[in-house]
Amino acid sequence: MNKKTDTEIKVLTALKNAKDYISGASLAKELNVTRTAVWKAVKKLKTEGYDIYSKTNLGYKLIKADTNLSSTKIKNLLENKNINVVVLDEVDSTNDYAKKFLNEDFSVIIAKHQTKGRGRLNRTFYSPNNVGLYMSLVVKPKAEIIDSVNITTFCGVVVQRAIEKLTGLDAKIKWVNDIFVNGKKVSGILTEASCDFELNKLNYAIVGIGVNLYDIKFPFEINDIATNLQKESGIKVDINEFTASIVNAFSELDYQLKNKEYMNIYREKSLVLGKTVKIVGAETFEGKAVEITDLGALKVLVNGEIKTVNAGDCSLKL
Ligand code: BTN
Repeated sequence: MNKKTDTEIKVLTALKNAKDYISGASLAKELNVTRTAVWKAVKKLKTEGYDIYSKTNLGYKLIKADTNLSSTKIKNLLENKNINVVVLDEVDSTNDYAKKFLNEDFSVIIAKHQTKGRGRLNRTFYSPNNVGLYMSLVVKPKAEIIDSVNITTFCGVVVQRAIEKLTGLDAKIKWVNDIFVNGKKVSGILTEASCDFELNKLNYAIVGIGVNLYDIKFPFEINDIATNLQKESGIKVDINEFTASIVNAFSELDYQLKNKEYMNIYREKSLVLGKTVKIVGAETFEGKAVEITDLGALKVLVNGEIKTVNAGDCSLKL
Protein backbone atom coordinates (compact mmCIF):
# COMPACT_ATOMS: atom_id res chain seq x y z
CA MET A 1 0.00 0.00 0.00
CA ASN A 2 1.30 3.48 -0.93
CA LYS A 3 2.26 5.87 1.85
CA LYS A 4 -0.55 8.33 2.60
CA THR A 5 -0.08 11.90 1.48
CA ASP A 6 -0.34 14.76 3.98
CA THR A 7 -3.79 15.66 2.63
CA GLU A 8 -5.01 12.08 2.98
CA ILE A 9 -3.84 11.95 6.59
CA LYS A 10 -5.48 15.31 7.35
CA VAL A 11 -8.76 14.31 5.64
CA LEU A 12 -8.80 10.99 7.49
CA THR A 13 -8.15 12.67 10.83
CA ALA A 14 -10.85 15.27 10.20
CA LEU A 15 -13.34 12.53 9.24
CA LYS A 16 -12.42 10.53 12.34
CA ASN A 17 -13.07 13.57 14.54
CA ALA A 18 -16.33 14.58 12.84
CA LYS A 19 -19.48 13.44 14.61
CA ASP A 20 -21.59 13.44 11.44
CA TYR A 21 -21.34 14.18 7.74
CA ILE A 22 -18.93 16.97 6.86
CA SER A 23 -19.06 18.77 3.53
CA GLY A 24 -16.21 18.82 1.02
CA ALA A 25 -16.21 22.63 1.22
CA SER A 26 -15.85 22.63 5.04
CA LEU A 27 -13.06 20.06 4.86
CA ALA A 28 -11.25 22.09 2.19
CA LYS A 29 -11.53 25.26 4.28
CA GLU A 30 -10.47 23.56 7.52
CA LEU A 31 -7.46 21.87 5.92
CA ASN A 32 -6.57 24.76 3.64
CA VAL A 33 -6.63 22.67 0.48
CA THR A 34 -8.88 22.68 -2.61
CA ARG A 35 -12.14 20.74 -2.80
CA THR A 36 -10.61 18.67 -5.60
CA ALA A 37 -7.75 17.71 -3.30
CA VAL A 38 -10.31 16.59 -0.67
CA TRP A 39 -12.25 14.60 -3.28
CA LYS A 40 -9.05 12.90 -4.51
CA ALA A 41 -7.98 12.06 -0.95
CA VAL A 42 -11.40 10.55 -0.16
CA LYS A 43 -11.30 8.49 -3.36
CA LYS A 44 -7.84 7.15 -2.47
CA LEU A 45 -8.83 6.38 1.15
CA LYS A 46 -11.82 4.41 -0.13
CA THR A 47 -9.56 2.26 -2.31
CA GLU A 48 -7.56 1.51 0.85
CA GLY A 49 -10.67 0.07 2.47
CA TYR A 50 -11.93 3.00 4.55
CA ASP A 51 -15.73 3.02 4.59
CA ILE A 52 -16.39 6.63 3.66
CA TYR A 53 -19.93 7.40 2.55
CA SER A 54 -20.71 10.37 0.34
CA LYS A 55 -24.15 11.96 0.37
CA THR A 56 -25.30 14.77 -1.88
CA ASN A 57 -25.69 18.04 0.05
CA LEU A 58 -24.24 16.49 3.22
CA GLY A 59 -20.69 15.52 2.32
CA TYR A 60 -18.58 12.69 3.71
CA LYS A 61 -18.78 10.41 6.72
CA LEU A 62 -16.33 7.78 7.94
CA ILE A 63 -18.16 4.70 9.13
CA LYS A 64 -16.59 2.74 11.92
CA ALA A 65 -18.66 -0.36 11.29
CA ASP A 66 -18.14 -3.32 13.55
CA THR A 67 -18.75 -6.55 11.68
CA ASN A 68 -17.93 -8.78 14.68
CA LEU A 69 -20.79 -9.83 16.89
CA SER A 70 -20.33 -8.88 20.53
CA SER A 71 -22.92 -9.58 23.23
CA THR A 72 -21.42 -6.77 25.35
CA LYS A 73 -21.72 -4.20 22.57
CA ILE A 74 -25.27 -5.30 21.79
CA LYS A 75 -26.27 -5.12 25.48
CA ASN A 76 -24.81 -1.62 25.74
CA LEU A 77 -27.06 -0.52 22.89
CA LEU A 78 -30.23 -2.10 24.29
CA GLU A 79 -32.80 0.08 26.02
CA ASN A 80 -34.08 -2.83 28.13
CA LYS A 81 -31.11 -4.09 30.14
CA ASN A 82 -33.00 -7.20 31.32
CA ILE A 83 -32.84 -8.87 27.93
CA ASN A 84 -30.71 -11.99 27.88
CA VAL A 85 -28.24 -11.86 24.93
CA VAL A 86 -26.37 -14.99 23.83
CA VAL A 87 -23.83 -14.98 20.99
CA LEU A 88 -22.67 -18.35 19.64
CA ASP A 89 -19.85 -19.09 17.19
CA GLU A 90 -21.77 -21.90 15.54
CA VAL A 91 -25.08 -23.65 16.01
CA ASP A 92 -27.40 -25.82 13.94
CA SER A 93 -30.30 -23.37 14.07
CA THR A 94 -30.78 -20.46 16.50
CA ASN A 95 -34.54 -21.18 16.45
CA ASP A 96 -33.84 -24.66 17.85
CA TYR A 97 -31.21 -23.48 20.35
CA ALA A 98 -33.63 -20.78 21.53
CA LYS A 99 -35.84 -23.49 23.08
CA LYS A 100 -33.36 -23.67 25.97
CA PHE A 101 -34.52 -20.19 27.01
CA LEU A 102 -38.27 -20.63 27.25
CA ASN A 103 -38.20 -19.88 30.99
CA GLU A 104 -36.79 -16.39 30.47
CA ASP A 105 -38.97 -13.38 29.62
CA PHE A 106 -36.99 -12.12 26.64
CA SER A 107 -33.91 -13.76 25.15
CA VAL A 108 -31.91 -13.06 22.04
CA ILE A 109 -29.83 -15.85 20.53
CA ILE A 110 -27.45 -14.94 17.72
CA ALA A 111 -24.99 -17.16 15.87
CA LYS A 112 -22.07 -16.24 13.63
CA HIS A 113 -22.82 -19.32 11.56
CA GLN A 114 -25.68 -21.84 11.32
CA THR A 115 -25.10 -25.33 10.01
CA LYS A 116 -28.83 -26.03 9.57
CA GLY A 117 -30.44 -22.64 9.15
CA ARG A 118 -34.14 -23.18 8.56
CA GLY A 119 -36.57 -21.19 6.44
CA ARG A 120 -40.34 -21.30 6.03
CA LEU A 121 -42.01 -24.24 4.29
CA ASN A 122 -39.14 -26.61 5.14
CA ARG A 123 -36.61 -24.63 3.14
CA THR A 124 -33.06 -24.02 4.26
CA PHE A 125 -31.63 -20.61 5.05
CA TYR A 126 -28.07 -20.14 3.79
CA SER A 127 -26.11 -18.99 6.87
CA PRO A 128 -22.34 -18.84 6.22
CA ASN A 129 -19.83 -17.56 8.76
CA ASN A 130 -19.79 -13.84 9.63
CA VAL A 131 -21.71 -12.49 6.65
CA GLY A 132 -25.23 -12.33 7.99
CA LEU A 133 -27.35 -11.83 11.04
CA TYR A 134 -28.85 -15.13 12.23
CA MET A 135 -30.93 -14.35 15.29
CA SER A 136 -33.85 -15.76 17.25
CA LEU A 137 -35.85 -13.77 19.75
CA VAL A 138 -37.78 -15.61 22.45
CA VAL A 139 -40.66 -13.33 23.36
CA LYS A 140 -43.78 -13.65 25.51
CA PRO A 141 -46.16 -10.91 24.50
CA LYS A 142 -49.48 -10.61 26.30
CA ALA A 143 -51.60 -11.56 23.32
CA GLU A 144 -54.67 -13.56 22.47
CA ILE A 145 -54.15 -16.27 19.86
CA ILE A 146 -55.83 -14.22 17.10
CA ASP A 147 -53.49 -11.26 17.67
CA SER A 148 -50.35 -13.35 17.94
CA VAL A 149 -50.50 -14.05 14.19
CA ASN A 150 -49.32 -10.44 13.83
CA ILE A 151 -45.90 -11.17 15.39
CA THR A 152 -44.56 -12.18 12.00
CA THR A 153 -45.81 -9.12 10.10
CA PHE A 154 -44.68 -6.85 12.94
CA CYS A 155 -41.21 -8.36 12.69
CA GLY A 156 -41.25 -7.77 8.92
CA VAL A 157 -41.82 -4.07 9.53
CA VAL A 158 -39.14 -3.95 12.24
CA VAL A 159 -36.53 -5.47 9.91
CA GLN A 160 -37.65 -3.28 7.00
CA ARG A 161 -37.25 -0.18 9.19
CA ALA A 162 -33.82 -1.22 10.47
CA ILE A 163 -32.59 -1.76 6.91
CA GLU A 164 -33.94 1.59 5.77
CA LYS A 165 -32.50 3.39 8.80
CA LEU A 166 -29.00 1.94 8.57
CA THR A 167 -28.52 1.75 4.81
CA GLY A 168 -31.03 4.19 3.29
CA LEU A 169 -32.25 1.35 1.02
CA ASP A 170 -35.89 1.25 -0.05
CA ALA A 171 -36.62 -2.20 1.35
CA LYS A 172 -39.96 -3.85 0.53
CA ILE A 173 -41.95 -6.56 2.28
CA LYS A 174 -43.07 -9.52 0.21
CA TRP A 175 -46.08 -11.11 1.86
CA VAL A 176 -45.84 -12.63 4.37
CA ASN A 177 -42.44 -11.67 5.68
CA ASP A 178 -39.59 -11.71 3.21
CA ILE A 179 -37.69 -8.46 2.82
CA PHE A 180 -36.63 -7.54 -0.68
CA VAL A 181 -34.27 -4.92 -2.04
CA ASN A 182 -34.13 -4.17 -5.75
CA GLY A 183 -36.20 -7.26 -6.52
CA LYS A 184 -34.05 -9.74 -4.55
CA LYS A 185 -34.42 -11.21 -1.08
CA VAL A 186 -32.19 -9.88 1.73
CA SER A 187 -34.04 -11.25 4.72
CA GLY A 188 -36.48 -13.93 5.85
CA ILE A 189 -38.37 -14.49 9.07
CA LEU A 190 -39.45 -17.78 10.60
CA THR A 191 -41.82 -17.53 13.55
CA GLU A 192 -42.63 -20.55 15.69
CA ALA A 193 -45.08 -20.25 18.55
CA SER A 194 -46.84 -22.15 21.30
CA CYS A 195 -50.41 -21.33 22.23
CA ASP A 196 -52.74 -22.30 25.06
CA PHE A 197 -56.12 -22.90 23.38
CA GLU A 198 -58.00 -23.28 26.66
CA LEU A 199 -56.87 -19.89 27.91
CA ASN A 200 -56.84 -18.42 24.38
CA LYS A 201 -53.35 -17.02 24.86
CA LEU A 202 -49.90 -17.21 23.44
CA ASN A 203 -47.31 -18.97 25.61
CA TYR A 204 -44.23 -17.85 23.72
CA ALA A 205 -42.95 -17.13 20.23
CA ILE A 206 -39.55 -17.79 18.75
CA VAL A 207 -38.97 -15.22 16.05
CA GLY A 208 -36.10 -16.26 13.77
CA ILE A 209 -34.61 -13.49 11.66
CA GLY A 210 -32.00 -13.99 8.95
CA VAL A 211 -30.49 -11.00 7.13
CA ASN A 212 -27.80 -11.13 4.44
CA LEU A 213 -25.53 -8.28 5.52
CA TYR A 214 -22.16 -8.53 3.80
CA ASP A 215 -21.08 -9.19 0.27
CA ILE A 216 -20.37 -12.81 -0.60
CA LYS A 217 -20.82 -15.03 -3.60
CA PHE A 218 -24.07 -16.94 -3.14
CA PRO A 219 -24.40 -20.55 -4.24
CA PHE A 220 -25.67 -20.96 -7.79
CA GLU A 221 -29.21 -21.99 -6.69
CA ILE A 222 -29.92 -18.69 -4.93
CA ASN A 223 -27.62 -16.31 -6.77
CA ASP A 224 -30.42 -14.88 -8.92
CA ILE A 225 -32.94 -14.47 -6.12
CA ALA A 226 -30.88 -13.37 -3.10
CA THR A 227 -28.77 -10.32 -2.38
CA ASN A 228 -27.14 -8.57 0.58
CA LEU A 229 -27.23 -5.11 2.09
CA GLN A 230 -23.58 -4.29 1.36
CA LYS A 231 -23.95 -5.13 -2.31
CA GLU A 232 -27.11 -3.05 -2.69
CA SER A 233 -26.10 -0.02 -0.62
CA GLY A 234 -22.31 -0.07 -0.59
CA ILE A 235 -22.60 0.11 3.20
CA LYS A 236 -21.21 -2.38 5.69
CA VAL A 237 -23.67 -2.05 8.52
CA ASP A 238 -22.46 -2.38 12.09
CA ILE A 239 -23.85 -5.79 13.04
CA ASN A 240 -24.18 -4.92 16.73
CA GLU A 241 -26.01 -1.67 15.98
CA PHE A 242 -28.25 -3.40 13.43
CA THR A 243 -29.08 -6.17 15.92
CA ALA A 244 -29.81 -3.72 18.74
CA SER A 245 -32.02 -1.63 16.48
CA ILE A 246 -34.20 -4.69 15.76
CA VAL A 247 -34.31 -5.86 19.37
CA ASN A 248 -35.13 -2.36 20.69
CA ALA A 249 -38.08 -2.10 18.29
CA PHE A 250 -39.61 -5.18 19.95
CA SER A 251 -40.36 -3.07 23.05
CA GLU A 252 -43.49 -2.01 21.11
CA LEU A 253 -44.61 -5.58 20.48
CA ASP A 254 -47.47 -5.76 23.04
CA TYR A 255 -48.83 -2.38 21.98
CA GLN A 256 -48.64 -3.12 18.27
CA LEU A 257 -50.23 -6.57 18.56
CA LYS A 258 -53.20 -4.84 20.14
CA ASN A 259 -53.36 -1.69 17.99
CA LYS A 260 -51.84 -2.83 14.69
CA GLU A 261 -50.76 0.68 13.66
CA TYR A 262 -47.61 -0.80 12.12
CA MET A 263 -49.79 -2.53 9.51
CA ASN A 264 -50.02 0.80 7.69
CA ILE A 265 -46.25 0.69 7.17
CA TYR A 266 -46.54 -2.98 6.23
CA ARG A 267 -49.01 -2.07 3.47
CA GLU A 268 -47.04 1.01 2.40
CA LYS A 269 -43.89 -1.06 1.99
CA SER A 270 -45.61 -4.04 0.40
CA LEU A 271 -43.95 -5.48 -2.67
CA VAL A 272 -47.09 -7.32 -3.75
CA LEU A 273 -50.06 -4.94 -3.41
CA GLY A 274 -51.40 -4.01 -6.84
CA LYS A 275 -49.28 -6.70 -8.54
CA THR A 276 -50.13 -10.03 -10.13
CA VAL A 277 -49.11 -12.82 -7.79
CA LYS A 278 -49.05 -16.58 -7.71
CA ILE A 279 -50.23 -18.19 -4.48
CA VAL A 280 -49.22 -21.70 -3.52
CA GLY A 281 -51.00 -22.90 -0.41
CA ALA A 282 -54.13 -24.87 0.33
CA GLU A 283 -55.00 -23.84 -3.24
CA THR A 284 -52.76 -22.69 -6.09
CA PHE A 285 -53.89 -19.74 -8.19
CA GLU A 286 -52.87 -16.45 -9.76
CA GLY A 287 -54.51 -13.05 -9.41
CA LYS A 288 -54.04 -9.43 -8.44
CA ALA A 289 -53.10 -8.70 -4.80
CA VAL A 290 -55.60 -6.02 -3.77
CA GLU A 291 -55.57 -5.82 0.02
CA ILE A 292 -53.73 -6.90 3.16
CA THR A 293 -55.94 -6.95 6.26
CA ASP A 294 -54.86 -5.91 9.75
CA LEU A 295 -54.53 -9.62 10.58
CA GLY A 296 -52.10 -10.05 7.70
CA ALA A 297 -54.43 -11.91 5.32
CA LEU A 298 -53.80 -11.27 1.63
CA LYS A 299 -56.84 -10.64 -0.59
CA VAL A 300 -56.38 -11.62 -4.20
CA LEU A 301 -58.71 -10.81 -7.07
CA VAL A 302 -59.14 -13.91 -9.23
CA ASN A 303 -61.54 -13.77 -12.19
CA GLY A 304 -63.71 -11.14 -10.51
CA GLU A 305 -63.81 -12.98 -7.19
CA ILE A 306 -61.82 -12.13 -4.02
CA LYS A 307 -59.89 -14.97 -2.44
CA THR A 308 -58.52 -14.47 1.07
CA VAL A 309 -55.19 -16.16 1.82
CA ASN A 310 -54.04 -16.59 5.41
CA ALA A 311 -50.94 -18.69 4.79
CA GLY A 312 -48.90 -19.94 1.89
CA ASP A 313 -46.21 -18.93 -0.52
CA CYS A 314 -46.56 -15.87 -2.69
CA SER A 315 -44.46 -15.05 -5.73
CA LEU A 316 -44.64 -12.13 -8.11
CA LYS A 317 -45.67 -12.78 -11.70
CA LEU A 318 -43.82 -10.51 -14.10
C1 BTN B 1 -37.33 -17.78 5.30
O1 BTN B 1 -36.67 -17.09 4.52
O2 BTN B 1 -38.16 -18.61 4.89
C2 BTN B 1 -37.12 -17.61 6.77
C3 BTN B 1 -35.67 -17.60 7.13
C4 BTN B 1 -35.40 -17.49 8.61
C5 BTN B 1 -33.94 -17.63 8.90
C6 BTN B 1 -33.63 -17.38 10.34
S1 BTN B 1 -31.90 -17.28 10.63
C7 BTN B 1 -32.17 -17.33 12.33
C8 BTN B 1 -33.27 -18.32 12.59
N1 BTN B 1 -32.73 -19.66 12.68
C9 BTN B 1 -33.15 -20.43 11.69
O3 BTN B 1 -32.83 -21.64 11.53
N2 BTN B 1 -33.96 -19.75 10.88
C10 BTN B 1 -34.14 -18.40 11.32
